[in-house]
Amino acid sequence: LALILSLALGPVGAARADDAVPATVRIATEGAYAPYNFTKPDGTLDGYEIELGREICARAKLKCEFVAQDWDGVVPGLNAKKFDAIMSGMTITDARLKVVDFTKPYSGDSSGFAVDRNGPLAKLPLGGQKFSLADEAEAQKALDAIKPLLKGKTVGVQVSTIHAAFMDKYLKGTIEVREYKTTEQHDLDLAAGRLDAIFANDAPLRATAEKPEFADTVVLAGPRFRGGILGRGVAMGLRKGETKLKARLDEGIDAVIADGTLKKLSLKWFKA
Ligand code: ARG
Repeated sequence: LALILSLALGPVGAARADDAVPATVRIATEGAYAPYNFTKPDGTLDGYEIELGREICARAKLKCEFVAQDWDGVVPGLNAKKFDAIMSGMTITDARLKVVDFTKPYSGDSSGFAVDRNGPLAKLPLGGQKFSLADEAEAQKALDAIKPLLKGKTVGVQVSTIHAAFMDKYLKGTIEVREYKTTEQHDLDLAAGRLDAIFANDAPLRATAEKPEFADTVVLAGPRFRGGILGRGVAMGLRKGETKLKARLDEGIDAVIADGTLKKLSLKWFKA
């Protein structure tokens, strides 16, 4: 009977064990979060994570393929097995660790505000100051300083981000928060004067501010936030329990750190 079954269904046990490594690892990325990831006019994906992801996979001897996925669908899509990994500027947070796993981080991230250079928020004080939200006292100090200035202002964030979570935790009631499906939409609304500020990761904000059509958008030198609810670095997101895939990708990340590839790509895409 086993023989007949295996002829009909293929070898018993051919179905991938839950923690086995997929033959092709499908990696989801938004393709709209430059310089991490973006879509070129010809429709192909490019950016820091696309190049780095290929290098990580090559070193881990994995066959990988990037697929585009809206940001607010990356976690549901991962858990529905539409793809096997997420590489989309996604920060490791305690809230996310309840529903996904992460590889080792391959990039740090810090967050700040973009505003109109001629607007009322262009002179937010605390220039250059950095705050770790991991330290409640420090977080409180930063918030006490910015809260009165932001009172009644309209601030844009991308949906399902650490930035939306930050606003919800610390500034609800003080400001009007608008959540956007894509960062491009909040960028355009700031430029059009429909927002007083954007709260987002520094690198994408700086990439926007460098575009000629965003000549009036400036990224404030301070305050800068990281840690606490803003997490601890950017990593690949994986389904829980995919221990073998995680181990292979972590090896790949170790290798691109050790041989200088990560540093080289970081300089190329982030100038840092
Ligand atoms: N680092 C932030 C977070 O993890 C923002 C990531 C947004 N990524 C994107 N592809 N739009 O919440």
